[in-house]
Amino acid sequence: MKSAAPIRSICCIGAGYVGGPTMAVIADRCPDLQVTVVDINQDRIDAWNDSDLSKLPVYEPGLDAVVGRARGRNLHFSTGVDEAIASADMVFISVNTPTKTRGLGAGQASDLRWVEACARQVAKSAVGHTIVVEKSTLPVRTAEAVKAILSAAEHSLDGSQRSFSVLSNPEFLAEGTAISDLESPDRVLIGGEHPEAIESLASIYGHWVAHERILRTNLWSSELSKLTANAFLAQRISSINSVAALCEATGADVREVARAIGTDSRIGPKFLQAGPGFGGSCFQKDILNLVYLCRHFGLPDVADYWESVVQLNTWQQHRIARMVVKKLFGTVTGKRLAILGFAFKADTNDTREAPAIRIAKDLLEEGAQLAIHDPKVDSEQIARDLQLPASTAPAVDSGPTRAALSGEGTWWPSDDVASALREADAVIILTEWNQYRDLDWSVLAPLMRQPAWLFDARSVVNPSEVRAAGLNFWRVGEGQS
Ligand code: NAD
Ligand code: UDX
Repeated sequence: MKSAAPIRSICCIGAGYVGGPTMAVIADRCPDLQVTVVDINQDRIDAWNDSDLSKLPVYEPGLDAVVGRARGRNLHFSTGVDEAIASADMVFISVNTPTKTRGLGAGQASDLRWVEACARQVAKSAVGHTIVVEKSTLPVRTAEAVKAILSAAEHSLDGSQRSFSVLSNPEFLAEGTAISDLESPDRVLIGGEHPEAIESLASIYGHWVAHERILRTNLWSSELSKLTANAFLAQRISSINSVAALCEATGADVREVARAIGTDSRIGPKFLQAGPGFGGSCFQKDILNLVYLCRHFGLPDVADYWESVVQLNTWQQHRIARMVVKKLFGTVTGKRLAILGFAFKADTNDTREAPAIRIAKDLLEEGAQLAIHDPKVDSEQIARDLQLPASTAPAVDSGPTRAALSGEGTWWPSDDVASALREADAVIILTEWNQYRDLDWSVLAPLMRQPAWLFDARSVVNPSEVRAAGLNFWRVGEGQS
């Protein structure tokens, strides 16, 4: 057993949004530790190794600098999964755990096929004692399955002396702020059964995280805390979005209500920003997983409670699309609409579960012609998300063509905001990119076909400037007093 020995070499399976940045920060903060991030996706590994740091596969402010400092020194990216496992004292599993799309639990339960494949690969390739760390977000009690697979390898008859400890160490970083979240986390959570293994991992984080911020729990509390944290955060967003709709109906203003309740120290000001609904790869997936677990453990009322958080979110996204149609005289068929922002939040190129997807699809279904602008999301990604290839932008002076009025929805990518807005009947802001806060509406409004609308689902523009520019204006949660 080498569990008490200091960890010299770690391997992370999965070079995605979590594995890449997390390991980059560990390598940066622990120069004596060799860190190898492996993936089965060759293109992803090539991008992590690209000498041009602007081509890293994940866009996160500050990530390029961290990778630049550590890569080649003690941070390595490779497709050699077995070799990396064999030479590691500690293996992180940081692979995708999306919602199942078929079979038992489809639409709710997490698909654990990639996690199980990792456990089996570690069982096959590990040498000596290996600490296996669940970094992926997992249903409570997954460690039981991981332990069962590893323990079968401990007892194999091939004569090798192998042993394993399993830890849960969920990741709480948010995209767009991943590097600062990793460098100064609110807390690091480590769940496990073997104190020596827990302390080995704690000593890695101890290089830069204060002792009192490293929480130790049992395995199941750690697994469940991750799902619960995301469920609580998402629930606040659905709560404020529900109040936004009530504000619009009553003349209240959701920003004022959020400020008023957020100053109560028991409520706090964060995660009270009304918007087009939450997106991202985690909130919906993790709540649905919680719902599935509650039903599995015979708690249907608890399951219904959490499911309503997701239902309200879906409703909010459809509500915004419906409202756009209603304000544009009940039809958007053949009309040009500019969508500003496709990423699920600012400062990321990630579009997973982005509210823009559902809202754009609803508008396409109504026959709209969408010019889509996002500073970081490429057009191939948008085409995949909308399941519709991009069209070429129609000539601006052509007016509504017969094809457009036939009701077929189309979209095209726009490189700049001004060309997206040209001849548009409406502009809809769906991501809070900083560059949308400083737009000069006195210059942009005249480019649009009048009467034109601005729908601000993120509360980023200055209402008086927009109104002064002659645009009709709607923003989330603002009632007409
Ligand atoms: P991702 O899809 O960006 O990356 C996962 C990577 O794992 C992919 O590159 C894939 O090719 C690789 N992979 C899958 N199976 C493999 C195998 N057997 N061997 C080698 N590589 C394999 O996913 P992500 O966003 O990094 O999320 C990873 C986990 O972290 C998920 O459980 C997620 O819920 C959780 N999480 C994500 C975030 C986030 O902000 N994205 C935050 C906290 C937790
Ligand atoms: C979330 C959790 O915050 C993080 O701890 C976890 O590890 C992964 O899931 P992420 O999805 O990357 O992180 O971003 P987050 O900042 O939580 O935003 C999620 C969604 O909620 C975004 O679409 C965002 O725009 C939206 N949101 C957030 C709001 O609509 N209002 C708010 O007040 C906050």
